[in-house]
Amino acid sequence: MTRLSVVGTGIRPGGHLTTEVRNLIAGADRVLAVVDGLNLVYLCRINPATESLQDCYRQAAGREASYAEMVRRILAALDQGGHVCAAFYGHPGVFVWPAHEVIRQARSRGLAARMYPGISAEDCLFADLGLDPAQHGCQSYEAMDFYLYPRRIDPTAALVLWQMAALGDIHRNRFEADGAWVQALAEVLMADYPADHVTTVYEAATYPLDEPRMEAVALSDLHEARFSQASTLVVPPLVAPALSNERLARLGVRASDLGAAAYRRLRGS
Ligand SMILES: C[S@@+](CC[C@H](N)C(=O)[O-])C[C@H]1O[C@@H](n2cnc3c(N)ncnc32)[C@H](O)[C@@H]1O
Repeated sequence: MTRLSVVGTGIRPGGHLTTEVRNLIAGADRVLAVVDGLNLVYLCRINPATESLQDCYRQAAGREASYAEMVRRILAALDQGGHVCAAFYGHPGVFVWPAHEVIRQARSRGLAARMYPGISAEDCLFADLGLDPAQHGCQSYEAMDFYLYPRRIDPTAALVLWQMAALGDIHRNRFEADGAWVQALAEVLMADYPADHVTTVYEAATYPLDEPRMEAVALSDLHEARFSQASTLVVPPLVAPALSNERLARLGVRASDLGAAAYRRLRGS
């Protein structure tokens, strides 16, 4: 049966492949992969019918055109029938427009298409930085989107800003953050956090023996930080949330009725 599986290979080649994804790749008639280096070597080993789509970045002018070319080539493979597997690094549903788009288009043609999760950069971040969203909550935005479309920032929760290197890339064809945009973003953040609030420029290790990059940078120095294609910015919570006695009272619950751990957490202690 003709079908499309869109899978994530995780951040670290080989080790992050789930058994589910490995089996899908092994059993596919064709594997089209937007991964490079060792990641690609692993996929080719699992299924020799693996082809790289990395050249879409070179062939098309600008990121949008590259993504459209990926979608076109995956759909062209589907047109030939069989089980096509499209592989993206990390989680295929996290900041990967072509992965969502190819599923939409395949389904609109009446074909079976499904996404399978992988380990994302944010999953690695939770592990490396010991950041548990259960404790303070977590806000997660694309950096430029966050700057352009003002949100209500909650300084009691962690804030994760993705694609820092694409900040200011209005024509979608640059690969370096624009310093003026980083400075402007820092100023937006400094309306809710003090200038000396320490953020982390985070890069998960992409090879098993490497260490993650976890660079502490005060908001006032953010414009001097180096951001690569793999940089994610983490702004830790500033203050603990306040327990709402009004909400407790509405349900006839006293603070002391809460489980000790939950109560402590809610008080931020
Ligand atoms: C196009 S998105 C792809 C995300 C990927 N699908 C995932 O699941 O992590 C690229 C962004 O993901 C984040 N990213 C990718 N690799 C990373 C790494 N090794 N460490 C930290 N963040 C990373 C960065 O914010 C980068 O700009």
